[in-house]
Amino acid sequence: MNIKKALQGSIKQFESHNIPSANLDAEVLLLEVLNISRLYTNNISEDKHDILSTFQNDNFKLERSWIYAHNDYELTGKENIIFNNYITRRLKQEPVAYILNRKEFFGYEFFVNENVLIPRPETELIVKEVLEIIKNKKYFIKQYNLIDIGTGSGCILISILNELQKNNYLKLINQSIAIDISKTAIEIAKANAKKYNFENNIKFINGDLTKEINQKLFSDSNDYIITANLPYISNDDYEQLENNVKDFEPKLALASGIDGLDDISALLCSLSKVMFKNNQNIYILLEADPNQIDYIIKEFDIYFKKKESTIIEDFSEKNRIIVTKIGF
Ligand SMILES: C[S@@+](CC[C@H](N)C(=O)[O-])C[C@H]1O[C@@H](n2cnc3c(N)ncnc32)[C@H](O)[C@@H]1O
Repeated sequence: MNIKKALQGSIKQFESHNIPSANLDAEVLLLEVLNISRLYTNNISEDKHDILSTFQNDNFKLERSWIYAHNDYELTGKENIIFNNYITRRLKQEPVAYILNRKEFFGYEFFVNENVLIPRPETELIVKEVLEIIKNKKYFIKQYNLIDIGTGSGCILISILNELQKNNYLKLINQSIAIDISKTAIEIAKANAKKYNFENNIKFINGDLTKEINQKLFSDSNDYIITANLPYISNDDYEQLENNVKDFEPKLALASGIDGLDDISALLCSLSKVMFKNNQNIYILLEADPNQIDYIIKEFDIYFKKKESTIIEDFSEKNRIIVTKIGF
């Protein structure tokens, strides 16, 4: 079968299964097959990527325009088999990011699989805000400690470090810590850190935030920036999620109790028990559902005396990110 027929056939199948963006998905998946085929020229037996192969040979990759310029290219037997396998997976609603084992976030590519949440565009706002905080610092006397709680793929922290490095601001960071309750997520975050050469810059902790957020974690006298895109979907809403999310992404990364606030509340409660030092600023950046924002602000009021919060809207103009500065 040639490229033209392969594309036409798969688009038709996607459309009949109501897969959104049928054309784009078909093109992206076909391109992936051709690129893998080039990587393992005579040795293409697996459809599953491993972490390293996903990241290798970026220079080697064909662009989408290639498939249109080579419409009559005949897929090899192995390319056909793999393409059909991808199509079957997509028809079962598996997200393209899991089929490709990667997702772009803040312009950087992250390895993802079913053990981590696929990074969402609105979460990029957390990265943007952290960079603003660091950039707007008036006096560069103190450094920052970065703590990313519920790190998943590590996309938030690694993107921040990448951007700081690009602007020569990495020297402003004293230490970076990534925490996740999921052991497999921590392994993936480590692999992503390795890809961007930050494996020695980040301390990875596999544990529950209620245990890991303690006095010892805050023993340094520099300021802290805490980022947390924790699960915030209520148990009921979780049951109503679309199959392409519920059947593939980890429940641990999505659902958080009756009102979706178990993890965020636990984080604020744990932080409230830490004795911060005088003249220390603690910035907390949380992602939440627009309906949860008022409740979270009230929790901040209960737990912390001196604080100020700003709400950031997402791309649909809904309140999504809370940036709170706690000063001591
Ligand atoms: C919504 S995902 C976010 C992943 C990543 N930070 C992102 O933005 O794409 C939430 C993450 O929090 C982790 N998590 C859930 N409960 C936790 C807890 N009690 N302590 C630490 N991590 C937790 C999950 O394993 C998951 O990786």
